[in-house]
Amino acid sequence: MNILILGSGGREHTIAWKLKQSPKCSSLFVAPGNSGTAQIAKNVPVSVTDFEAIKEVVLNNNITMVVVGPEDPLVLGIHDFFLADNALKNVAVIGPQQAAATLEGSKEFAKQFLYRHNIPTAAYQSFNAQTVEDGYAFLETLKPPYVLKADGLAAGKGVVILDNLDKAKAELKSMLVDAKFGEASTKVVIEEFLDGIELSCFVLTDGKNYKILPTAKDYKRIGEGDTGLNTGGMGAVSPVPFANQAFLDKVEKQVVKPTIAGLQKDNLPYKGFVFIGLIKVGDEPKVIEYNVRLGDPETEVVLPRLKNDLVTVFEAVANQTLDQIEIEIDSRAATTVMLVSGGYPEAYDKGKVITGLENIQDSIVFHAGAQNKDGVIETSGGRVMAVTSYGDTYKEAIKKSYQNIEKLHFDKMYYRKDIGFDL
Ligand code: AMP
Ligand code: GLY
Repeated sequence: MNILILGSGGREHTIAWKLKQSPKCSSLFVAPGNSGTAQIAKNVPVSVTDFEAIKEVVLNNNITMVVVGPEDPLVLGIHDFFLADNALKNVAVIGPQQAAATLEGSKEFAKQFLYRHNIPTAAYQSFNAQTVEDGYAFLETLKPPYVLKADGLAAGKGVVILDNLDKAKAELKSMLVDAKFGEASTKVVIEEFLDGIELSCFVLTDGKNYKILPTAKDYKRIGEGDTGLNTGGMGAVSPVPFANQAFLDKVEKQVVKPTIAGLQKDNLPYKGFVFIGLIKVGDEPKVIEYNVRLGDPETEVVLPRLKNDLVTVFEAVANQTLDQIEIEIDSRAATTVMLVSGGYPEAYDKGKVITGLENIQDSIVFHAGAQNKDGVIETSGGRVMAVTSYGDTYKEAIKKSYQNIEKLHFDKMYYRKDIGFDL
């Protein structure tokens, strides 16, 4: 089978690495890909949102399965685009249709879904420019900290948490009236603050059946001790030690089951990954957000722990026979540490030569913002590479990642030295 992966990050390199292990995968393409995917697949210089160009790649290369990495093409309706085209409609697309992708594309839509299906989540109200005064009044009824969320996609920057009521009101005005996040903040969700520890639960569904994949915890802040600006993610650990079986049973019963049943009831067609952002408040799971794709860098620890042939699993998603698949998980822990460009998540340089890759032992390096320029691997983004390791415990795994990172170098390379510190 010829397969196309859309995306260019560490997540997509990991998906490529995993699919490539399947005897069913004959040719693998990645659009646009990076220096890591170039080593195991053919990169095609096509943007993930250029559906016509993707169609051409699919038809020219007899591709029969497309795996969508990031959310943008899903929210823009790539799955629907395939279904509506006679030449493409039999291609298996792994990723939900547009209506379902709105769970990530609109925070208000997600909150309404959670409420409608009685899934535990923070109390909320949403506001627009006309109701900004009501928003101020609602903020006055809440205790700090105040959680404000731009409704639409804002490249991971749309959530603002503030301790001070006046600042929260000013932020609300800036989002709604001054369009701080453009279209994305036409509506704003204001939420009750939940105090607890975060983790992510990954579910694969064919729209009828579901399989729960390993849990993971990512580290979003740039600085050690979870300080400083938010990033796409600086590292991850799987499994999450504090998510014991009793807690996971609650997650399945209170969150996963009603989510999958809710998708069916609401007629939201879904064949793909559901990434459920959870917060454990006491012993209770509450949903912070849905993403309609795998996480990055969570993928770099979740897929390495999946023992199944991923092509077979994706075929079952496409055919709605996921109930016939037994998911097998590696009992070892996996951890990943992200190497980033100095300055990230603010301004940073690109084009720095990366050295030492040939010296890595007993870790897997997934490339993210890196490209091959005339045979030289260079940085091309903020998050550059994820160094993943296995271990009997997460501590052992993390030690291996750090030992291998010592061998890697690029100018102004930075990484957090405390991944797993809070576990
Ligand atoms: P989101 O983009 O919805 O995942 O939010 C980004 C981050 O903001 C989350 O990972 C949490 O750390 C935090 N956050 C979001 N909603 C809440 C909430 N209701 N209470 C506490 N923290 C939150
Ligand atoms: N690591 C968080 C995300 O992928 O959204």
